[in-house]
Amino acid sequence: MPDITHVLTTNRSQIRQQIRQRRQQLSTLQQQQAGHDLVRQFSQHIQVQAAQHIAIYLHNDGELDTQAVIDWCWQQGKQVYIPILHPFSHKQLLFTRLTATTPLVKNKYGISEPRLNVTNVIPYLELDLVCSPLVAFDLAGNRLGMGGGYYDRTFSQHQFVRNGQQPPYVLGLAHDCQQHANLPIAPWDMPIKEIITPSRTLQFS
Ligand SMILES: Nc1ncnc2c1ncn2[C@@H]1O[C@H](COP(=O)(O)OP(=O)(O)OP(=O)(O)O)[C@@H](O)[C@H]1O
Ligand SMILES: [Mg+2]
Repeated sequence: MPDITHVLTTNRSQIRQQIRQRRQQLSTLQQQQAGHDLVRQFSQHIQVQAAQHIAIYLHNDGELDTQAVIDWCWQQGKQVYIPILHPFSHKQLLFTRLTATTPLVKNKYGISEPRLNVTNVIPYLELDLVCSPLVAFDLAGNRLGMGGGYYDRTFSQHQFVRNGQQPPYVLGLAHDCQQHANLPIAPWDMPIKEIITPSRTLQFS
């Protein structure tokens, strides 16, 4: 009988491959349009409107382009934070402030991130909203990322609940074409409360 963990892993990596290919095929124009449409979703979103400290990401690999949303946040006087690879904690993220003049460097995955400056790091609990990237989502609030487990570890419920804290509110940003029916989910996967795509906002209880 095949090992269940092996089946799960193989299935997840096939889905990742298929959906990453799909989003990489979007044209520059489609990406720009998606980024602008996302601003419309953001500007109508009550929790976004109220948030002052928002974590977003710098897009990579065909992910939904966040530049227009970042510019919109700045125009609204909101502070934007970007994940960087944690220098000591295994496969965890830190969030650090992004301004128009923040120096960027490429991390080991080739993804741009702000150069680490401890004075710009925000404690997780001060984030009003975390907009995570993802590879695939389903309509039950399941999320499949790039496979590193970075968001799962950083926002693991246990980690916060153990300390009597409420974890930050994490939602996902994705192109509509990243939707997948019934994702194979693992026990460590962090569920997300909501997904924002260029065309709609989906909330899960
Ligand atoms: N809270 C956790 N503690 C320890 N290991 C974890 C935790 N969460 C995930 N992992 C490990 O990380 C690996 C990758 O997890 P997974 O495939 O769910 O990544 P992902 O959700 O796609 O990535 P990401 O969170 O970076 O977007 C798994 O092998 C898993 O065992
Ligand atoms: Mg996961």
